[in-house]
Amino acid sequence: MRQIFVKFVLNFNKFENLNLCVLASGRGSNLKSIIRSQKSGKINSKVAIVISNNSNSGALNIAKSYQIPGFHISQKLFTSEEEYVNKFLELLSNYNIDLIVLAGYMKLIPIEIVRKYKNRILNIHPALIPSFCGKGLYGLKVHEAVLNYGAKVTGVTVHLVDEEYDTGPIVLQKTVKVKDDDTPESLQKRVLKWEHKMYQEAIKLFESKKFNIEGRKVFFT
Ligand code: GRF
Repeated sequence: MRQIFVKFVLNFNKFENLNLCVLASGRGSNLKSIIRSQKSGKINSKVAIVISNNSNSGALNIAKSYQIPGFHISQKLFTSEEEYVNKFLELLSNYNIDLIVLAGYMKLIPIEIVRKYKNRILNIHPALIPSFCGKGLYGLKVHEAVLNYGAKVTGVTVHLVDEEYDTGPIVLQKTVKVKDDDTPESLQKRVLKWEHKMYQEAIKLFESKKFNIEGRKVFFT
């Protein structure tokens, strides 16, 4: 059967200093690591805004502590889906967002946003996609599943976001060895360190390279 590839070339209008919107629901260690990469000059992009569906998230507190505008946006706060999506789109446009970075965001991104920001939304998953991923596999559950399966390696995947959970094209992956005496917690801790490094690397790629996608294959040239 012939496979038809759709070729997509993305050239940000401005390289080097992308405006990032980080979406996060929880403690926000990836968010903090991205902000630190920015402050230390390891990336040129800046976190322009943080959006969370959880008003008590660590991520919103981190945003506040770095004086980054933080917004609590949850569908429950709006009378219709349309209003909710419009608020999201309005913020992204007001802050000239180039790249949306999901860092432990527990909601599906509204389809209108996925379409408008096609191939400009990144997610990070604490395992090697397509293993140990998908709906319901998040947080410690991922590492428990890896250990229960007896996998010898796990890792980190940075991928583009499409309309489903964890199914978009892969941008970067890093393997992490599973140790015989690992617990879900110890594995999570080791993988998380690599998550912080890999997200920095992925953002740098988007800052400095021309990005091509053919089918599911992502290239930077
Ligand atoms: C990370 O493990 C990330 O891979 C997953 O959610 C977790 C978020 O952790 N998508 P944190 O809030 O960034 O510390």
